[in-house]
Amino acid sequence: MAHKDSKERYGTISKTLHWGMAALLLWQFLSAASRLLFEETAIESFFWPTHKPLGLLLLVLAVIRVTWALVQRHNRPDSVSALAKAGHRLMYLLLLVTPTLALMRQYGSGRSFEPFGIPLFPGFDGEKIDWMMAPASLFHSWLGWILLAMIMGHLFMAFRRHGPSQVPVLSRMWGSRD
Ligand code: HEM
Ligand code: HEM
Repeated sequence: MAHKDSKERYGTISKTLHWGMAALLLWQFLSAASRLLFEETAIESFFWPTHKPLGLLLLVLAVIRVTWALVQRHNRPDSVSALAKAGHRLMYLLLLVTPTLALMRQYGSGRSFEPFGIPLFPGFDGEKIDWMMAPASLFHSWLGWILLAMIMGHLFMAFRRHGPSQVPVLSRMWGSRD
């Protein structure tokens, strides 16, 4: 079935998750960059408000994607190298950990959080919960930028490997042939 993966190519579910998340991550990094480079400008006011809700959506998609990768693990194209395999695993890990730490910080701050109008955390009065906030304060932005660096390396490797004598990695993730 074309929606499942096979040894020759990724199926439509994996492809949709891969390219859909790539597009959403591009926006997520634009919003992060707007905060770093254009604080208190119109650029930040435009991009930054989407950072938290989109970050939550990316976490939900990452959980679905990792679950799907586990279900399909015996039924996917083989990695081109041990390094590629380790790199993909590390990207999955960062896709899960980076937003999770931020959500813990959001909860621990006692502020309410209503992504897309859904009342996820009602917020609370009183002391903030320091242990829930500390990991993101220390690591969230670093992990985010490390993920971006890995994506750049991944992109470079994907195009570098795409040659007549090499494994057709781009077409098995992009192509529509069965
Ligand atoms: C895959 C998802 C996410 C990625 C890749 C990501 C990435 C980043 C990056 C790179 C920064 C640093 C910006 C700077 O240098 O100023 C940042 C900051 C921030 N993010 Fe995220 N983020 C994600 C999800 C979330 C979520 C779910 C929340 C909250 C619910 C969140 C809240 C924040 C906040 C409050 C900051 C500013 C404080 C700080 O630098 O730690 N992020 N994010
Ligand atoms: C324009 C950008 C991108 C290109 C050209 C690209 C290319 C590819 C290709 C060709 C493969 C198949 C590798 C193989 O068959 O061995 C692949 C797999 C993969 N890519 Fe990307 N990719 C891009 C963006 C991203 C982004 C933003 C992420 C997110 C973190 C990502 C994470 C992964 C992972 C984890 C895999 C393993 C299979 C899967 O779970 O989808 N890629 N990519």
